[in-house]
Amino acid sequence: MTQENKALFIIFGATGDLAHRKLYPALYRLYKKGFLSEQFAVIGTARREWSDDYYQDVVMDAIEDSVESEEHGRSFASHFRYQSHNVKDTEHYVTLKKLADTLDSEYDLDGNRVFYLSMSPSFFGTITDHLKQEKLISDNGFNRVIIEKPFGSDYESSKALNDDILESFDENQLYRIDHYLGKEMIQSILTLRFANRLFENSWNKDAIDHMQITLSEQLGVEERGEYYDKSGALKDMVQNHVMQVLSLLTMDAPKSYTTNEVRNKKVDVLKALKTPVVTDFVRGQYSESEDGSVTAYRLEDKVNPHSTTDTFVAGKIVIDNDTWDKMPVYIRTGKRMTKKSTRIDIVFKQSENNIFNDTPTHLTIHVDPFEGFELTLNDKKIGPGMDLTPMTLGSLRSEETIENSPEAYEKLILDVLRGDETHFAHWGEVSESWKFIDQIKRLWEDTNHPIAFYPALSMGPKEAFELLEKDGRQWVWNP
Ligand code: BG6
Repeated sequence: MTQENKALFIIFGATGDLAHRKLYPALYRLYKKGFLSEQFAVIGTARREWSDDYYQDVVMDAIEDSVESEEHGRSFASHFRYQSHNVKDTEHYVTLKKLADTLDSEYDLDGNRVFYLSMSPSFFGTITDHLKQEKLISDNGFNRVIIEKPFGSDYESSKALNDDILESFDENQLYRIDHYLGKEMIQSILTLRFANRLFENSWNKDAIDHMQITLSEQLGVEERGEYYDKSGALKDMVQNHVMQVLSLLTMDAPKSYTTNEVRNKKVDVLKALKTPVVTDFVRGQYSESEDGSVTAYRLEDKVNPHSTTDTFVAGKIVIDNDTWDKMPVYIRTGKRMTKKSTRIDIVFKQSENNIFNDTPTHLTIHVDPFEGFELTLNDKKIGPGMDLTPMTLGSLRSEETIENSPEAYEKLILDVLRGDETHFAHWGEVSESWKFIDQIKRLWEDTNHPIAFYPALSMGPKEAFELLEKDGRQWVWNP
């Protein structure tokens, strides 16, 4: 039976793109499935002056694609209120508290509160401080804070941000979103590894030669040029998503499936990363596509025409612990690449005695747009002799299954309501990851590491291919 959850959501940044694209549709899906029912309410805040009616229309617009009926949508949207809010103004929090308390008794919410911070991180500390001072944190019920990325722009700033927030909330009340952790196939990494003896015994330096993580996008920076030009692929994608995926792939087995066990093992492996060397990291930027249909990054809206921001990163990350003994994980991510694909390729070693001269086998974990697994093995070629031919065992989810499975935000918000922090980024992971990224950034700056240009709609600069070739390897996926 579906368990209904009671809560008041207070969204900071309610007029933003993320709230519109992800949050309102996710809340609606939870409502449709009965995880939220009559006992929930939402207060949207932002600077703009909107009325409740206008806000509810915006919410209706956001759920347009999935709404069951106008009436159902309206009854969902009726739970939403809007308050124009200046995050620095104490008075506004006083009004916000009144509204929160009113809705709490109107909808019988037992003091359960979810504060959703979807604004520039420079305001996070100010907001959490006011929430505490102006007593928006309820005495009964739970108080949880969902924090959107970016969580700082380097280790120092993320630490300062974290310290600020911890003045008002405890770590176990914080839910730092990394939407990759809400993806079905990313969550499947742990079940694949720890619910299958076959892999449990071969997920180590003896059987695996190396891993490849690809997060390629075909889209460019769209309307986010201003943010992106200050960030770049290393901070936008590697620090969070790639490092999270890497830690799930390479962490040691937790003793049990509990939040702390999983988090601690992830942190352990991040601490075991070998200090990066500059020649192991490629920073790329897209130029115009070969057919001229896509412009160069430097010509994108709100991007500096002389920008040296990385829109592509490839790298070799070496894990230096007993389980892996310096096994490399090759990563690549970029905007304006040939195709959108999130995939992981695990390349196994040749068989030990190699009596048939086998080709290394590999396992592909398809995350997006396909979802599922493919294991490529060596089979005997039909006919005389003992020649080999590749064969693939695969299980890809149907389009219908993918369509019907819950979207990352929906699952993550439900986790917050249930108090399950496993699929969120803990400070331990965030801080270790920033420390590693800062080292790469510093190496690039200190050595004036050149930008390698690649034509838009390609798989990145030639340096990304040479990175593997110099180790006698190649990218498994090369469309
Ligand atoms: C976000 C980045 O975190 O992830 C975006 O800020 C990127 O730049 C997006 O486009 C990719 O997410 P997904 O789920 O489409 O792979």
